[in-house]
Amino acid sequence: MTTTRRTILQAVLATAAAAILPPPLKGAAQGRPPATKPIPSTGEALPVVGLGSWITFNVGDDPVLRDECAAVMAAFFDAGGRIIDSSPMYGSSQDVIGYGLEKLGRPSRLFSAEKVWTSSGDNGPAQIEESRRFWGVPRFDLLQVHNLVAWEEHLKTLFEMKAAGQLRYVGITTSEGRRHDLFEEIMRTQPLDFVQITYNVVDREVEDRILPLARDRGMGVIVNRPFQQGVLTQRLEGEPLPEWATEIGASTWAQFILKFIVSHPAVTVAIPATTRVDHVRENLAAATGPMPDEATRRRMAAYVQDL
Ligand SMILES: NC(=O)c1ccc[n+]([C@@H]2O[C@H](COP(=O)([O-])OP(=O)(O)OC[C@H]3O[C@@H](n4cnc5c(N)ncnc54)[C@H](OP(=O)(O)O)[C@@H]3O)[C@@H](O)[C@H]2O)c1
Repeated sequence: MTTTRRTILQAVLATAAAAILPPPLKGAAQGRPPATKPIPSTGEALPVVGLGSWITFNVGDDPVLRDECAAVMAAFFDAGGRIIDSSPMYGSSQDVIGYGLEKLGRPSRLFSAEKVWTSSGDNGPAQIEESRRFWGVPRFDLLQVHNLVAWEEHLKTLFEMKAAGQLRYVGITTSEGRRHDLFEEIMRTQPLDFVQITYNVVDREVEDRILPLARDRGMGVIVNRPFQQGVLTQRLEGEPLPEWATEIGASTWAQFILKFIVSHPAVTVAIPATTRVDHVRENLAAATGPMPDEATRRRMAAYVQDL
């Protein structure tokens, strides 16, 4: 049998992938693409589980840790993920993301979500350009004003960049319930594509006003801190999952929490962060299979509250 160039190439690619990725765990939703939701302002489909990078990707120059982050990114894209979220606030995370993207051959499915985070509006454009160079992307898909810092000046810059085709979507972020009154006011008055907030099965303040407002205003919702930076998953680890968790396809607490979040009709995507390939696979698998309806979502919240 003649060995063709194609079979050689396929063998080389398979070896490269095997070198980056450990074998998938049994039970992971192999081959099943994650569910998507449309970005309200355009209809573009986004898989409902993404990847955060705060702390987890802030690994500096350590070559072993940088390669571990690249392996997490490889597993993320391999499982059908798209949106990766970062910020100039996250130390070396931007540089590490750029390293991973380069190593993975710059996956075309990437949806890059960055932030501007400087108290001076004048410094915004230079900071955005520095972030862009770290990622090595021609432009960001989404730029968000981080924690509403200098939001009026930065939003002006971001809307101008969007009009000039230098980015695709504009957003604002907060977390853990901070400055929600101002956040809502900005949502009511600015033509945002996305808002990013904290939401999970125990932190549910946004259900009252922010999530309904996002629906009314046609804004996508990105959910940060789905696991309370690991505090929630660790707290629940010793507790039994309800036996009805199988009905919604959740075999771990992380999946239970993610399914609760992304099944809210106003939520577009949750962005858990992780240092682990098995966890990123587990998290993406939560975007597959059955999702809870409203009655089940209430049951999920009540169950966790009673633990
Ligand atoms: N104001 C803002 O704009 C703002 C604020 C906060 C966060 N964010 C964004 O939101 C992202 C997520 O929030 P976060 O980083 O604060 O925390 P998080 O995603 O709630 O939790 C991360 C922690 O969860 C653990 N974890 C991940 N997957 C798991 C699984 N399947 N099972 C058990 N544990 C798991 C990770 O540990 P392992 O490494 O062991 O998996 C990590 O310690 C950030 O990275 C950032 O991109 C934005």
